Amino acid sequence: MNAKVIGTGWQLPAYEADNHYLATLVETSDEWIRERTGIVKRHLAKEETTTSLAAGAARKALADAGLQAEELDLLMVATITPDTDTPSTACRVQAELGAVNAVAFDVSAACAGFLYGLHIADAFIKSGIYRNVLLIGAETLSKLVDWTDRGTCILFGDGAGAAVLTAASEGGIIAQSVGSNGSKWDVLFCMGRPNRNPLHEDGKESGYLQMEGQEVFKFAVKTVPACIEQVLTEAGLSADAVDCYLLHQANQRIIQSVAKRLKQPEEKFPMNIDQCANTSSASLPILLAQMKEQGRLHPGDHLVLSGFGAGLTWGACVMIW
Ligand code: COA
Repeated sequence: MNAKVIGTGWQLPAYEADNHYLATLVETSDEWIRERTGIVKRHLAKEETTTSLAAGAARKALADAGLQAEELDLLMVATITPDTDTPSTACRVQAELGAVNAVAFDVSAACAGFLYGLHIADAFIKSGIYRNVLLIGAETLSKLVDWTDRGTCILFGDGAGAAVLTAASEGGIIAQSVGSNGSKWDVLFCMGRPNRNPLHEDGKESGYLQMEGQEVFKFAVKTVPACIEQVLTEAGLSADAVDCYLLHQANQRIIQSVAKRLKQPEEKFPMNIDQCANTSSASLPILLAQMKEQGRLHPGDHLVLSGFGAGLTWGACVMIW
């Protein structure tokens, strides 16, 4: 049995912040942001939370799949921006949905979180332990971002995407690979809240996201094509045989570079980065759900999903739609 996506949904916060708005916060310009990243605007949470966005996307995915929340066996939320350190966002979403029969936990793998989640979902489904899985990528990155740092604050947005997977005898995920390299943890990290324990203060100064942009860029353009080539070999497919490459929406130039390395036309690489910016673990499921909604995915299509993020983490999979 393979894990097959049978329903998708997405949800973005109502508030839209364009590049001109960001230029009122830091020294930047619409032109610089568009040229270097492809981003035009991003949605930022004002009223919404990671939990509410996740639940919104999940309800749509369940309706799309024609499944009741009670039928879920496993509920995972890939996130690095939970509303509470504990309990997990997954437990809170479980309560919102009434998914009373599901075991619920979060997956922390930054922007590769959705791919890690697919990996876990596939393993549980293949082993026969669970049948119906809800996987959500949900983030409110706006609370981790340093809004005085023009090197990072222009890149990120908030949102959630969800996919319902079930055991299928045909199609679904046919090859996948995920990887981690913790030795490079410090090229993209967030220390989080300082420790005020009287026995051990940790001296943390910044609780905000910090990044060496060019290091991350170099890592992405090298690792993503290699990982995709690996899963294509495993699936016995050529790059030409893939109908659509859905890549993590971090930077338009990274996506273009991957297309070039794989010798594939850019039209096979749909993008929504202009509208959503980088929504971390939510980026792939939002893109997938929007593609489905727009009727751009057809039964039997060969899709490649791939992403990368802090950790460092990365992954790719091939699925037959
Ligand atoms: N507006 C205007 N100027 C900016 C700017 C901004 N928002 N951010 C940086 N700059 C300036 C820099 O200070 C630097 O100025 P200098 O030449 O006077 O020193 C110049 O622009 C070039 O900076 P650099 O960092 O070399 O730009 P870049 O082409 O590498 O683009 C990123 C920066 C962040 C867009 C790019 O490195 C990137 O996208 N990296 C990957 C990040 C990523 O994907 N992270 C998420 C991973 S999941």
